[in-house]
Amino acid sequence: MKPILEVLSGRVQAVPPVWFMRQAGRYLPEYRALRERAGSFLDLCFTPELAAEVTLQPIRRFGFDAAILFSDILVVPHALGRTVTFEAGEGPRLEPLDDAAKLNGLAATADEKVFAPVCETVRRVKRELPPNITLLGFCGAPWTVATYMVAGRGTPDQAPARLMAYRKPEAFARMIDILVSVSSRYLIAQLRAGADAVQIFDTWAGVLPPAEFARWCIAPVQKIIANVRAEIPNAKIIGFPRGAGASLDGYVSRVPVNAVSIDWTADPAFIRDRVQRRVAVQGNLDPLALLAGGAALDRAVDEILENFATGPFIFNLGHGILPETPIAHVEQTLRRIRNR
Ligand code: CP3
Repeated sequence: MKPILEVLSGRVQAVPPVWFMRQAGRYLPEYRALRERAGSFLDLCFTPELAAEVTLQPIRRFGFDAAILFSDILVVPHALGRTVTFEAGEGPRLEPLDDAAKLNGLAATADEKVFAPVCETVRRVKRELPPNITLLGFCGAPWTVATYMVAGRGTPDQAPARLMAYRKPEAFARMIDILVSVSSRYLIAQLRAGADAVQIFDTWAGVLPPAEFARWCIAPVQKIIANVRAEIPNAKIIGFPRGAGASLDGYVSRVPVNAVSIDWTADPAFIRDRVQRRVAVQGNLDPLALLAGGAALDRAVDEILENFATGPFIFNLGHGILPETPIAHVEQTLRRIRNR
């Protein structure tokens, strides 16, 4: 069986499998070259031939244990009819849903034709992938996608969505429910097309107080998992409630993920005792340690292996790779993990 699927079934691997969040991207010259020919970023996501090629680039170069579908979490608002654009160097732009009337006007169902090219990318990658490499699909968690839909862009503290959730909880809940249902269908489509497992990215889970975290992060992801497993009973699912900290304990006891991806601020003893006893752990190299390289990088990699590799563990970053990261530092990390 593929090493990552072994880990997602709770089995410890002698050498932990490894992949990196955002492993296809701007730190790779071959990505930058292809990105230039593709037109817009969404054109790249929706052109199966190019998206499949970009998905495979980091596999060819580094031999990671997983390929992650090249797409974006904002494909879901796009399917809901929201205009989504990516300005070079500025991040995503959407028409903001900044009052209750706009929220209540959000389409209740998605145009699922939008998902067809993404599923075609999954099928193409699957055909070309070596048999030991896991193909991961993904979506954004409803809360994180909602932060972009409400603000219309990335924000430092996600204040627009947090305020909307306090001020207009019913309208906000309606949007979250729509995202639950569309994201469930999107993940089911990716799994049917050949994804071996899926990851649910809740990048902004860490900004909410506990009761709000339970309502807007835990409950929607629970529902997505229930919907997916109603169709695909043993679907393998990784959760990434970034920044959840001490709430990770509650997250893994209530959300039936096969693995939880953790960021670099998590306390190792707490993760071993309260999290890894229940589910596999993925993570958690600081992307800045990877960028720094040298002895600091070796030390950071060794610490992670010492902390987590005796249990079910997938080596990853604690968040996406930074565009400035030297390729040699990625190679150094893989050697360190694999040649111990
Ligand atoms: O390699 C992979 O991980 C697969 C592809 C992938 C992308 N985005 C490609 C991308 C995945 C899994 C994502 C997830 C994603 N997208 C998240 C969750 C994970 C995270 O990093 O927090 C979020 C919050 C987004 C939304 C998003 N997309 C933002 C905020 C940005 C702009 C910031 C940035 O990094 O540029 C994007 C653009 C984006 N998505 C790029 C890539 C490779 C860069 C755009 C480009 O190449 O022009």
